[in-house]
Amino acid sequence: MAADNDIIVAGDCMRKMAIFFFSGTGNTWWVSGELVRLLREKSIWARACSIEQLAADEVACLITECETVGFGYPIYGSDLPGPMKKFMQRLPTVKDRKCFVFCTQWLWSGDGARTGADFLKPKGFDVRQGEHFLMPNNVCVEVIPLPFTNERSRLDAILDRTSHRIERFVGRIAADRPSRRGFNPVSRLLGAVQRVPFQMLHGRLQDDMRVDPERCTLCGYCEKVCPSGNLVSDGGSFTTRNRCVLCMRCYNFCPESAITYRHRPHNLKRGVPYRGPAEKFDPRILR
Ligand SMILES: Cc1cc2nc3c(=O)[nH]c(=O)nc-3n(C[C@H](O)[C@H](O)[C@H](O)COP(=O)(O)O)c2cc1C
Repeated sequence: MAADNDIIVAGDCMRKMAIFFFSGTGNTWWVSGELVRLLREKSIWARACSIEQLAADEVACLITECETVGFGYPIYGSDLPGPMKKFMQRLPTVKDRKCFVFCTQWLWSGDGARTGADFLKPKGFDVRQGEHFLMPNNVCVEVIPLPFTNERSRLDAILDRTSHRIERFVGRIAADRPSRRGFNPVSRLLGAVQRVPFQMLHGRLQDDMRVDPERCTLCGYCEKVCPSGNLVSDGGSFTTRNRCVLCMRCYNFCPESAITYRHRPHNLKRGVPYRGPAEKFDPRILR
């Protein structure tokens, strides 16, 4: 697994690439790591960075230094997570800097990569490749009873299938061969069918996570992993600030399963919520 911040010692004139990613529950982190590993195998200097850990000057520096940059995010209702949108909106303006965009999704997004490209083009990025990667579902809440799993053999089967697509994607990036999944008008239209209602509902969804005081042990884990400062401890309990970005970290990783969604606690009979693609994955490494 190579989604770290190591700097590989480069030979002279080595090609450089950086990937900026947001990941709620580890899927996009895993794909970013695999991309870095395979790019390095092709003798390309590559680094994956969680956008939660980067200062604006570091971003600008990486964009200046790298011939190509990548952007990755999980799909939420055929749309980008709020933190990724903000990150893209704050990017410096560039002149025809080559980039690739990818999203991770459980089933389908229509035009998930293209939606991110819409934020990048006005900044001057030349979006050369776009790809969608199927990964495990991370939505485990009771009101939307979708299937999810933490079973190693089933996760491995999904990761194995996705690895082949990652390899092909890396081949196209390394060869600078344009290929953009989901950029055609039909995918765009189908993506909009899901995205538009999701965006209309989004404001109402931002205050649905709560802490069940009966189960909560005040360990503070949820506050530490929250990317938006939505959950805050006031000493004896937790309050929410209507800023949830729906990343699922608090709900899925709370050690006591004390987070409720729309006042419904997690039903442990369905198993613990999805806890990421790697054994013992801990979202604190993304912050
Ligand atoms: C709020 C929300 C909305 C989602 N919408 C979709 C969707 O429209 N299509 C899909 O295939 N997966 C959807 N998913 C599943 C995630 O995109 C998928 O599990 C992703 O790989 C999670 O990545 P992460 O672990 O990096 O956060 C959604 C997940 C969340 C939390």
